[in-house]
Amino acid sequence: MGMRIDNLSPAIGTVVATGWEPSGLSDAEVWDGEAYHKALYRDGDTNRPVKWHKNSVDKLIEIASPHIDNESLVVDYGSGTGGSAIELLKSLDERGVEVELVLIDPLVSWFSKARDLLGEREDVHFELSIEREASGRTSFRRLEDILEGRKADVIISSSTLHLIPAKTIGDLALQFAGSLKEDGAFVWDSGDLESDLRPESSALLHDPYRAVRELLRLDEIRSARLSEMADDEKDGHERRLDRIFPTPLSIDVVLGALREAGFSSEIQDKVVSFSREDAENFVLVPRLAEIASPLHLGEERDDAIRGALDSALRSIADEGRGNDEEYRSHWVFGRHWLNQST
Ligand SMILES: C[S@@+](CC[C@H](N)C(=O)[O-])C[C@H]1O[C@@H](n2cnc3c(N)ncnc32)[C@H](O)[C@@H]1O
Repeated sequence: MGMRIDNLSPAIGTVVATGWEPSGLSDAEVWDGEAYHKALYRDGDTNRPVKWHKNSVDKLIEIASPHIDNESLVVDYGSGTGGSAIELLKSLDERGVEVELVLIDPLVSWFSKARDLLGEREDVHFELSIEREASGRTSFRRLEDILEGRKADVIISSSTLHLIPAKTIGDLALQFAGSLKEDGAFVWDSGDLESDLRPESSALLHDPYRAVRELLRLDEIRSARLSEMADDEKDGHERRLDRIFPTPLSIDVVLGALREAGFSSEIQDKVVSFSREDAENFVLVPRLAEIASPLHLGEERDDAIRGALDSALRSIADEGRGNDEEYRSHWVFGRHWLNQST
């Protein structure tokens, strides 16, 4: 039987969740997970989600909920620090619905925080989605292999699809199709996909942070540090940073891939306000603040980001896509199914 989310205070008793457990984390990795969690929850309190997180994920849960019943197998693809899973479990606990929830993510620092928060629930299972091959290369595990042939009733993916490279989205859609029961559903949200649905009075979720990245290309100290690197190193470094907030894909790429994999689709959208304070907390998460590297970690990096963010958010407000307090981000929500049932 599942344990209620508000009984999740750490530590007394045994860890009952199954699957992957972190080990040997550095202090920096622990802080990275903690910082992203605190970007989603005021002071890290799971009862106090910040507005943008709640307003986006609540709609995803509303869309997914009719597909979830007692004993459903639910997958959260791209769980991060557990933000979507925590809100889903709150909603299921309130309804008295008991499921098996499989959390999947490749980023050890953030996923460890999810384990820290949800590791005492016996209805939650953790799967790290990357593995090291014999050659030493890291690769993504296939969802069918992770589930060992079991089929899910529902796969959710919150704020993750825009991070999947266009060249792999087709294969991922096939993995989702191959991992769902016949009457299963795939439900996702994203605030960073281009679409005709987006009102001009809104931006994409990552627009301010892409603007920060562009502004910091001109930063003198940063440029001086880059010029000390060998050309190859500098190019690799800059390419890596460009992948943190990638150029947004069109929603058509995602929908095309899902159609090819045999899915029917229904799309909804919503404008979600993102306060300046929340935007700052978000982009200062170490993993994301790396866009300012090789500026030194800490004050040097954070101050440069704060200055650039201020300027980026002022431009967004001047364009009518926000105001002094917040910017408006446009989110799309997809529900997909494999046969004629809805
Ligand atoms: C913004 S977080 C969303 C976390 C969580 N779903 C939530 O709503 O708070 C996106 C997650 O996607 C994961 N991710 C990034 N690239 C990925 C990829 N190519 N395949 C699978 N997951 C990826 C990241 O590790 C990260 O935890």
